[in-house]
Order: sequence, then C-alpha cells, then structure tokens
Amino acid sequence: MSTSTITHNISQTAKNKGHRELRIGLFGFGVVGSGVVKILQQKREEFKRLFKTDVYVDRICVRDTEKKREALYPNDRITTNPIDLIEDESLDCIIEVIGGEFEARDIIIRSLRSRKHVITANKLLLSYDIEYLRQAAFRTGVQLLYAASVCGSVPVLRAIDELASSDTIRSIKGIVNGSTNFILTAMSQEGLCYEQACAEARRLGFLEADPSLDVSGADATQKLSVLIYHAFGAHVLPSDIKREGIEGVTADDFVRAREQKATIKLIARATCDPSGKIEASVAPEVVPLSHIFANTQNEFNALEIVADHAGPQLLYGKGAGSLPTASAVVSDLLELVKD
Ligand SMILES: NC(=O)c1ccc[n+]([C@@H]2O[C@H](COP(=O)([O-])OP(=O)(O)OC[C@H]3O[C@@H](n4cnc5c(N)ncnc54)[C@H](OP(=O)(O)O)[C@@H]3O)[C@@H](O)[C@H]2O)c1
Repeated sequence: MSTSTITHNISQTAKNKGHRELRIGLFGFGVVGSGVVKILQQKREEFKRLFKTDVYVDRICVRDTEKKREALYPNDRITTNPIDLIEDESLDCIIEVIGGEFEARDIIIRSLRSRKHVITANKLLLSYDIEYLRQAAFRTGVQLLYAASVCGSVPVLRAIDELASSDTIRSIKGIVNGSTNFILTAMSQEGLCYEQACAEARRLGFLEADPSLDVSGADATQKLSVLIYHAFGAHVLPSDIKREGIEGVTADDFVRAREQKATIKLIARATCDPSGKIEASVAPEVVPLSHIFANTQNEFNALEIVADHAGPQLLYGKGAGSLPTASAVVSDLLELVKD
C-alpha cells in the first residue's frame, strides 16, 4: 500500500550553499525523541553532502522544559505550547513521539491540515485511526510516515509494501513485542518464574512501570493491526484480534517445552485466505528450538512474511530502544528528502 502522493515540497529557501532544508518540529523529547536528536546531530553534515539537504530539528515541544534530557539541545528552542510548532509555517515536517491517543491525534491532524508532513511511531493511534489519518494526509497532499511504529528498527512495513505491490501476501507471523520477549527469554534461559523475569526486565529498562499493555498482548495486537493493513489492505481493529497475554505462562511450561526441544514465545499471526477472510491472533505458542523465533532473544523482533510467489521471507532486528527506533524515524525523514 503506497503512501499518499506528495505535493508539498520541502523548503527550497535555504539561504546559502544551494541546500534545500527539511525543518523539523519534534513533539516529545523522551526515549525516541532524544534518539532522533542525537542521530540527526551526528548525521547532519553527511546528509547535506549526500542529499544536498539540511535536515535538522528546529523546535521541540515537551510537557516540562525543566527536565534533564538525554541529548544536548538549545533550551530556547524548546516549548510547551503545541501551537508554536503547528502554526510555524517555516516547518516542513512534524515528528510525533509523545505516545498516547488523544493529544497525539490532535497534533497529527492539525499538522496535516497545516500542510506539514508527519512522522509518527504511535502504533496505538495508528491501530485505531490509520485509515482516517492516511486520508487526512492524502487530502492535503502531504506524507504520513510511520516506519518506527512496528518492530522499531526493522523495516517490516517497507518490506511488506514492496512485496504486496508485486505479489500476494498470505500470512505474517512473528515476535513483535520486545518487552514480553525479554521476559520469556529470561524465563527460558535462567529458569526464572514470571514475577522474577518481570522484575529483571523492569530493572534493565525493558518494562514500563505499568507493564499491562505489553504482558496482556495488547501492544502486539496494535502492531498486528498495522501490519495487517499493509499486508492485506484491510483495517482490523486490535479489539477484533484474538488475544492471550503471557501472564499465565509458568516456569513449569518451560520445563515441558524443553522436554519437547521447544520453547515458548508470544507470537502475533495473521492469515488471509483467497476469499479475503482474515484470521488474526496474539498468544504464547510452543516454538521448536530449531526455529529462528526460538533464537530471537531479549528485545529482538522477528517477522516471517509468506507470499504466493516469493514464498517465506524473514526480517530480524532490534524492535525497541532509543537509537533503533529513532533510526526508523530518520529513515522516514530520508523518504521525504529523496522523494
Ligand atoms: N521507546 C521505544 O522503544 C519505542 C519503540 C517503538 C515505538 N515507540 C513509540 O514512540 C512513542 C514515544 O515513546 P517514548 O518511549 O519515546 O516515550 P517517552 O520516553 O515517555 O517520551 C514521551 C515524550 O513526550 C513528551 N510529551 C508527552 N505528552 C506530551 C504533550 N501533550 N505535549 C508535548 N510533549 C509531550 C514528554 O515530555 P516530558 O519529557 O516533558 O514529560 C516526553 O518527552 C510512543 O508512541 C511509543 O509507543 C517507542
């Protein structure tokens, strides 16, 4: 499924050196936002040289300007007022990495209406509003890009788009949530019980204070909804995907799995039969040790895509974290630059 047609060009107004500019307004300066700032600061000169485009964060909007940040950035360019970014006509692109639903939705809609390209990592919002947001972008002739919303650094949506344009995708299946995969890896390798593994994941920053979205499988259903939209061209709501979390998985389950030369993974899967009927689920599954999913450990993700002519293809890599996720956001920025 291709992204909306681009008619809004990035700024041609660079004052000197014949460069174009891609001026960015960044909403959110947390885990992902600080990764974006770091990568762009590091790559700015290289992008100027390679793409003749100066790509930089011009303004940032946060909740609290006093907070200590993981990346260096001038304080006088940080605001708490969304209008400072949304109504700034010199900005070409808004990156939304605040998370959540309603405020993020409002920021994205208003940015699209003011003819700014939008990049987001927000799978929660996309899983409910993907159709509406894409239409809004299409109507105003700007791009809505969201490579970072599923599987972090792993370019699963681009691979699916590419394959779907020339083939028919029949199934997608994989490990799409790094936090639960970290917990299940700790249970499998260290023999920990569920509570011990959760405590370990939290200590190492792989689990949020409120882990319910991850361990219940809800986060994985949101990602699967976005994957299904691209693979099969249908919008299936997360609430329509069968879901079982990992809260009930015990140390004894791992002992039994090991006896069968297997382990346990939280698997998101969806199939589309020739009549267009889609079956989708997220649930813990017993996986043979010989399968690549069994060797997908900690915060890593893996996705298998099966298409009629191409057969099975596999993608694997880091599914979360500051720099891996930010690298997917930057890949979207480069789509804008190259377009
Ligand atoms: N973390 C990951 O590995 C990862 C991976 C894939 C996708 N994502 C997605 O990326 C998004 C961001 O995640 P994150 O981990 O970076 O979150 P985070 O660390 O909690 O950062 C959120 C940032 O947004 C700011 N913010 C929150 N509400 C705001 C508002 N109403 N107006 C302005 N700023 C606001 C916060 O400001 P203050 O700092 O001032 O509080 C903070 O800087 C989420 O949609 C998440 O699902 C994250």
